[in-house]
Amino acid sequence: MKKLFEGIYSDSKSIYTKNLNKGKKVYGEKIINKNNEEYREWNPYRSKYCAGIKNGLKKNIFFEGCTALYLGSAEGTTVSHISDIVEKNGAIFCVDLSEIAMHKLTKLAEERENIYPILSDAQRIENYKEFLEEKVDALFQDISQRNQAEIFCKNAAFLKKGSYGCLSLKTKSISQSKTKQDILIEEKKILEKEFMIEQILSIEPYEKEHYLILVKKK
Ligand SMILES: C[S@@+](CC[C@H](N)C(=O)[O-])C[C@H]1O[C@@H](n2cnc3c(N)ncnc32)[C@H](O)[C@@H]1O
Repeated sequence: MKKLFEGIYSDSKSIYTKNLNKGKKVYGEKIINKNNEEYREWNPYRSKYCAGIKNGLKKNIFFEGCTALYLGSAEGTTVSHISDIVEKNGAIFCVDLSEIAMHKLTKLAEERENIYPILSDAQRIENYKEFLEEKVDALFQDISQRNQAEIFCKNAAFLKKGSYGCLSLKTKSISQSKTKQDILIEEKKILEKEFMIEQILSIEPYEKEHYLILVKKK
């Protein structure tokens, strides 16, 4: 098993994280054992962050003990792998407006104590600012809204200066008529108010009409 980043590993084919909750799968993923360690296979077709790693993301924004704000957690497919990476002394504050998704995430949070579900619209940051009195080390967003960069910038208020964020940008949700390149130029302009852009990746073939944007808070 080769170490790609802190907490992220690969063999010749797949990407893995070390299972924090031994013997338990989260979404039917494969579990393998190597050198007395248990690893969960991370599916790039089900996780845009994993797709980014497959396509050459240059930095992992998550690390052991890290506190993170994750917008658009859904039921926790990607969050479960981040939970493996940040380990027991880390914390992931997970915002989603779907009650059904939050119900499933709450079940996952009962098994993984570093996950904190928050039922809210990510545009209404006043709803959850009380949980985030201390600024976080990492910000991630994966939501399909027309104003994705604006939402991400709003939530930058919770990110420490000089820390990293990653935005999964779904261009089709912003406009069906403009090209994805034009949408990217417009969204980049919004992001540059709060962040320095470090890398922009296409995540094809895993997801079409998406970019993964790695940023650093100014
Ligand atoms: C593509 S799914 C996220 C998948 C997840 N990131 C993963 O990799 O496992 C998008 C999620 O964003 C949520 N969402 C959409 N708009 C939102 C908003 N304004 N605030 C919070 N969550 C939102 C949806 O309810 C949905 O669960």
